[in-house]
Amino acid sequence: MDTAPSGFAIAQVACPVLESAPVGGRYHRLVVAAPGLAARTRPGQFCHLLCRDAGGNGPFLRRPMSVWRIGADGTLGFLLHVKGRGTAALARLRPGNALDVVGPLGNGFSLPAGARRVLVLARGVGLATLAPLVGSGPAVHAVLSARAPEDLMAAEFGASSFDAVFDSDGSSSPAAVEALLRRRFERERPDAVFTCGSNRLFLLLQRLAAEYGILGQVALEQQMGCGLGMCFCCVRDIRDEDGHVTHQRVCREGPVFDLQRAMSW
Ligand SMILES: Cc1cc2nc3c(=O)[nH]c(=O)nc-3n(C[C@H](O)[C@H](O)[C@H](O)COP(=O)(O)OP(=O)(O)OC[C@H]3O[C@@H](n4cnc5c(N)ncnc54)[C@H](O)[C@@H]3O)c2cc1C
Ligand code: FES
Repeated sequence: MDTAPSGFAIAQVACPVLESAPVGGRYHRLVVAAPGLAARTRPGQFCHLLCRDAGGNGPFLRRPMSVWRIGADGTLGFLLHVKGRGTAALARLRPGNALDVVGPLGNGFSLPAGARRVLVLARGVGLATLAPLVGSGPAVHAVLSARAPEDLMAAEFGASSFDAVFDSDGSSSPAAVEALLRRRFERERPDAVFTCGSNRLFLLLQRLAAEYGILGQVALEQQMGCGLGMCFCCVRDIRDEDGHVTHQRVCREGPVFDLQRAMSW
């Protein structure tokens, strides 16, 4: 049943799969019915998915997956880069199968009060984490970075205003992206910036946001055990407000952290 016990925001739910389809050559989208979870999920949060196909084949440990779509119709969507046993098992699910979901987990994005426009910088499937910012209030301009045009997934991101940069033509190099961001910040300064999916782009955005005095957040990824804050296998170095390095759990204190406090990985 898709309801959390009274007083608990997190639930484990067997969600019926509604859609399961490849996206390009390397990605896959899954949409499940999860009305209770969808109502409680905020942009930037994730779920811990039991990656078993209809035959029960798949790894023992759950895999963390950002919520890519939070449907007003009570659906949740996930956009997967199919890279190992877990995501391969998820990609074998078909409509009518059940997906065991624990969520919603972690702390999502927070928008500055009164924010009218934001910029997101996403690499690869990192755009899945950032996509729920589209439609969350402010106008979103995206800079989407991918290996090649066929990997871009601009439609899956959903913003009508975006720049695309690619490894295949060199436009995704740090120097080229820096020039693009500087032009953007000088023409139409965003109220906040958000990023996910690349250490290189995170470092670039951290430096430019500090220079231009723009607030920002980064969604971090880390391999997880419990996903619930108990095993400490997902800790990352994060600076506290005095600049001291602390160890924080991506599943519990994150996955979204202040852009200036997060550290390179
Ligand atoms: C909060 C969060 C949100 C995420 N959201 C998404 C998402 O929306 N879409 C998506 O495709 N992936 C997402 N990921 C990454 C996803 O969890 C891993 O890619 C997944 O666990 C791989 O499982 P697998 O069994 O297919 O591959 P595995 O066999 O477990 O791993 C394949 C390869 O990927 C590496 N890997 C596994 N997990 C991670 C990780 N977390 N970070 C970096 N490298 C890893 C492994 O070391 C190995 O080399 C997210 C991770 C986190 C922590
Ligand atoms: S995965 Fe166990 S504490 Fe984060």
